[in-house]
Amino acid sequence: MTDVEDQPWWRTAVVYQIYPRSFADSNGDGIGDLAGITSRLDYLAALGVDVVWLSPIYRSPQDDNGYDISDYRDVDPTFGTLADLDELIAGLHSRGMKLVMDLVVNHTSDEHPWFTESRSATTNSKRDWYIWRPQGTDGLPPNNWGSAFSGPAWELDETTGEWYLHLFSRKQPDLNWENPAVREAVQEMMTWWLDRGVDGFRMDVINFISKADGLPDGDVPAGALFGDGAPHYASGPRIHEYLHEMHSRVFAARPQQVLTIGEMPGVSVAQARLFTDPARAELDMVFQFEHVQLDRGLTKWDTQALDLRVLKASLRRWQVAMAEVGWNSLYWNNHDQPRAVSRFGDDSPAHRVRSATALATVLHLHRGTPFVYQGEELGMTNMPFASLADYRDLESLNHFAEIVGLGAEPDVALATLAPASRDNARTPMQWDAGEHAGFSTATPWIAVHPNHSEVNVAAPLDDPNSVWHHYRQLIALRHNDPVVMHGTFAMLAADHEQLYAFTRTTDDDLLLVMVNLSSDPLLAGTELADRAGELVLGNYPDTGPTQVLRPWEALVLRVQGRRSAAEAAVAGGVVPQRP
Ligand code: GLC
Ligand code: CA
Repeated sequence: MTDVEDQPWWRTAVVYQIYPRSFADSNGDGIGDLAGITSRLDYLAALGVDVVWLSPIYRSPQDDNGYDISDYRDVDPTFGTLADLDELIAGLHSRGMKLVMDLVVNHTSDEHPWFTESRSATTNSKRDWYIWRPQGTDGLPPNNWGSAFSGPAWELDETTGEWYLHLFSRKQPDLNWENPAVREAVQEMMTWWLDRGVDGFRMDVINFISKADGLPDGDVPAGALFGDGAPHYASGPRIHEYLHEMHSRVFAARPQQVLTIGEMPGVSVAQARLFTDPARAELDMVFQFEHVQLDRGLTKWDTQALDLRVLKASLRRWQVAMAEVGWNSLYWNNHDQPRAVSRFGDDSPAHRVRSATALATVLHLHRGTPFVYQGEELGMTNMPFASLADYRDLESLNHFAEIVGLGAEPDVALATLAPASRDNARTPMQWDAGEHAGFSTATPWIAVHPNHSEVNVAAPLDDPNSVWHHYRQLIALRHNDPVVMHGTFAMLAADHEQLYAFTRTTDDDLLLVMVNLSSDPLLAGTELADRAGELVLGNYPDTGPTQVLRPWEALVLRVQGRRSAAEAAVAGGVVPQRP
């Protein structure tokens, strides 16, 4: 391991993700905006986060809420102006926080001038900026790939009678990264933002930018309508080359250390190590999806019970793989995932607060850079959407239409959306118990969760046992406690079905984390509890070293001066007993 002092700043940082549409509305049109965010910066400073990652605010037709960009160098009027963004950057910087922008460059909007030019004629100079294929004699698309948002990944464009590729919606045509002019245009745009004061990029589906030669058909999984193209476009043949080129042209020469996070659906541990090995100069960290797919079947709509042992095995594998080389991002939530407290926790009134703080304790004490998604720090829950009309997300609406078209009963189709829809994460931030939750003075673009009367910012600020205060404490530990920042990770009781226990270790310190991830009490095992020292953090008001973990109880203990004994316990694989 490199010297602790040489470590880049983001290794001790916590990132807070803002979904601008749903965070704070300053002008009463029911949609969140930049000025709304700027007005809430003291709130973020009080929580203690170091970085804000902003989901896209660029000019966009909003087909996919801004992940379809028509001008990379302007702000969408829905969210404000470039001047508002400059103000936000200044406000963040003056509070010691940084700004990471979303970079969506696997595709643009079909309304981006690059695409309107490209589609205008086969001879247009921008034709080769996108992925076009001629019409065959069979009338079928060029290959069998499906779009992530239902239907085929190809659209036949009337203007020239050719097909273009769109891995997402038909309003999100894929750029052709094989064309050096495309790469240069993206790199120039990134430099323009860094010059403006931006501190980093979260790169949307960045492992999809290199497609396999010939765009071969994918295998068709049993029961699926389309072939799975992912093996031919996820981490494709030139991905490392493109990312290294971007690094050398955009980041290498800059005075500041730019933070880069690559969103990478389907990325393996082995690939992630390559992407984040500092010696290779590609990315700082990736978002992987293994742990958020363990309660899913063949598709994201197919929900199943989570086996905690499988979750632990997965996260442990990532911790181990990145111990010497590379770096992990840590997250439960984002704008694409249902709320973790409803999914991995228990959002009933009896357990909501404790299961939210239990999950946070597990995640934040792993080695890596934690991400907090807006409202997670309040324990915000999935939304009880009542009817199809309550949903906004095109992925959900398309899925519903697709399966009803195939013969599903509407009620059954609606039931698949409830636990899995991305809209669960997109309901307005709950600032207070008032009308529209203090998010807006007008009716919001998507309904406010009815539980905002209890679950809101105003309530927990005064309550030392709130989810919010627990997050604040975990964030402070990341900043102040060397073993949380740098310690090595070892999993305990890997086969236990309720207990998530691990240690973090440095030369002179050891932290023992024991969390009951269930609504039943469990006996944590005398061996571990006996060795426990000082209590660092708990989520019950009366916590102390104890052998019983109550429902969703989290205990963080420092085992100073007794490292060898505790290490022996780790080596011996102490398996706590159930009561
Ligand atoms: C990423 C984004 C998601 C978006 C998709 C297409 O997965 O997180 O919100 O719909 O890419 O840009
Ligand atoms: Ca607004």
